[in-house]
Amino acid sequence: MFLDLSYKYLIKKILFLFPPEMAHALIENFLYFMPNFLFINKFDKSTEITLFGEKMPSPIGIAAGLDKNCKSSSKYLSMGFGFSVVGTVMKNPREGNPKPRVIRLIDEKSLLNSLSFPSDGAMIILKRLKRLKKVKNRIIVSVSGLNEDEIIENISVFKDHCFGFEINISSPNTEDLKKFINPESVESIISKARNITDSPILIKLPRVEDYNIYENILKTISKFNKIGIVIANTKPISDSRLKVGKGGKSGAPLINETLKILKYLRPKFKDSVIICSGGVSNFQDTRKLLEAGANAIQLYTALIYEGPGLARKINMKLKNSRLLS
Ligand SMILES: Cc1cc2nc3c(=O)[nH]c(=O)nc-3n(C[C@H](O)[C@H](O)[C@H](O)COP(=O)(O)O)c2cc1C
Repeated sequence: MFLDLSYKYLIKKILFLFPPEMAHALIENFLYFMPNFLFINKFDKSTEITLFGEKMPSPIGIAAGLDKNCKSSSKYLSMGFGFSVVGTVMKNPREGNPKPRVIRLIDEKSLLNSLSFPSDGAMIILKRLKRLKKVKNRIIVSVSGLNEDEIIENISVFKDHCFGFEINISSPNTEDLKKFINPESVESIISKARNITDSPILIKLPRVEDYNIYENILKTISKFNKIGIVIANTKPISDSRLKVGKGGKSGAPLINETLKILKYLRPKFKDSVIICSGGVSNFQDTRKLLEAGANAIQLYTALIYEGPGLARKINMKLKNSRLLS
């Protein structure tokens, strides 16, 4: 409660005086050096879910991008998030697009970004991940690459150190990924990944208008064990304030579309693991997605606007609602 109020009336106001990437770096470094017990959170059994046969203490997770370099996931887990997606990790260190590349749209509780995978690179991130042994089974590593081999190499680097993988072929900011968004490429990547690991694999898909793309990929992946999808990444958008002129919009404006995609897919793919990402800001959004059949939920932008008490608040209402029991 104290943390929530300080975030709303003080910390957020100070952070929002800085450009978004600088504010992010400040928080990231703060969290990196803070002891976990400061955020201590007790999960209730009633918010537990089962994902690919394993228990997670809450269906609300951290979406990829917030902890790109594995510096703050253990703190997010201590704040009440059930799991955290680290990355997207690239094999080699990478700068990403020129700045400005993140903009706040405060009135819409939204962000625009055109980052294109800045990354410390797989080996540095692996070193940090190895320190998270205790929470290893709540960490998903988001991997991508400029070609199939890079994706597969990344999977082999992290395979013994996380719960599973999210293969990111969804960023609107990285042209090279478009070639992977078809059933043949997805099948080829999964087949190669399955030669290295039996861990759960999620394919994170872009936000597209043609839902046949989702259907065809879901049909393909249902041949494999422990494979699911994440729908979807940010909404592609042009904006001259971004140096590269276009990027992806995230946050509250995406929720209706995320729900629409889920409601279209769930009746056709009753047993597939479908995780939703896009626009979840509160318990109501969480409830709607879970009732429509989401296996879990990931969020990013709402944490920036609502602060560190968000997962705890959603968990509390989930517990009282008995939605998961
Ligand atoms: C600044 C920023 C960076 C992101 N970086 C990544 C990334 O590296 N990999 C990825 O799969 N998604 C990335 N995303 C997308 C988020 O994981 C998420 O899918 C999207 O923001 C929608 O969720 P939200 O509305 O809760 O933010 C990023 C989003 C933002 C705002």
